[in-house]
Amino acid sequence: MTGEATRRRGLMAEGDQVQLTDPKGRMHTITLVAGKQFHTHKGILEHDSLIGGPDGVTVAIGATTYLALRPLLPDYVLSMPRGAQVVYPKDSANIVGMADVFPGAHVVEAGVGSGALSMSLLRAIGPTGRLSSYERRADFAEIARANAERFFGGPQDNWSITLGSLQDELVDTDSVNQADRVVLDMLAPWECLDAVSKALRPGGVLCCYVATTTQLSQTVEAMRSSGSFTEPQSWETMARGWHVEGLAVRPQHRMVGHTGFLCTTRRLADGVEPPPRRRRPSKGMYGERLAETGGVADPVADPERLDPARLP
Ligand SMILES: C[S@@+](CC[C@H](N)C(=O)[O-])C[C@H]1O[C@@H](n2cnc3c(N)ncnc32)[C@H](O)[C@@H]1O
Repeated sequence: MTGEATRRRGLMAEGDQVQLTDPKGRMHTITLVAGKQFHTHKGILEHDSLIGGPDGVTVAIGATTYLALRPLLPDYVLSMPRGAQVVYPKDSANIVGMADVFPGAHVVEAGVGSGALSMSLLRAIGPTGRLSSYERRADFAEIARANAERFFGGPQDNWSITLGSLQDELVDTDSVNQADRVVLDMLAPWECLDAVSKALRPGGVLCCYVATTTQLSQTVEAMRSSGSFTEPQSWETMARGWHVEGLAVRPQHRMVGHTGFLCTTRRLADGVEPPPRRRRPSKGMYGERLAETGGVADPVADPERLDPARLP
């Protein structure tokens, strides 16, 4: 028994990953194997001294005391093998919360990349939910599957990974109007909107995660032009750690400055027109390129869109 099962019991088991942290905060991650030893220049730790015991203990290696804890999901995703760049824990938490991913939901996701977001989604939907993931690259899908199996302690029978592009595969695999939530983390989510609008049930949430302002603009404008979605909401999340030591309480000097932008919208019922926007954009916001790009704004070719002086 490893992964989620032993995590619930608070016991360390063979096959579990354990983080050993020394007094200076330096960390080693080991995978517990009966009879094995972990060697450092300070001494030796017998894996057997941890197996079967509780999480959150201290162990001595030579004269140094280490804290032994199994990694939480946020720790794990930042240290696991990567194919593609992962969604950071602050953004996964936001996606799960703001897209209202609930226990028992059927969630469609693309791309899988290294599987970081997939693991948060699997946690959120629980055993009664279903996660249908799509990934173009077979090598990334394998890395993601292995990462998730190592963390959960085995395969997840409510998780499927389909190889190929979401926009080509989605409707064949997932019946129409059956998905509660769709989460896209890819270069060009706007290419998937037709397929997503067929798969999402009315009222269902689409959440896109994109890295740049140009992608965000193109995604939002494509959502608007599609006619199947509510007015999108966009934001980014900045998490700043704080140093708290007695009266020395201040923001930490370093932080992860930028990861990506999030954008959510909801599927309208068939035949329903999006309500008119109360605040119409001013004419200069779009420029002439819009007509040429088929209704999709192109801020690269249309730099005035990015000029803050022109914002309404
Ligand atoms: C940034 S990575 C995803 C990272 C992942 N969310 C994670 O947390 O580990 C983007 C992935 O999307 C895949 N991809 C891009 N376009 C796609 C599409 N249309 N359908 C399916 N997968 C796609 C890429 O191959 C890549 O693996």
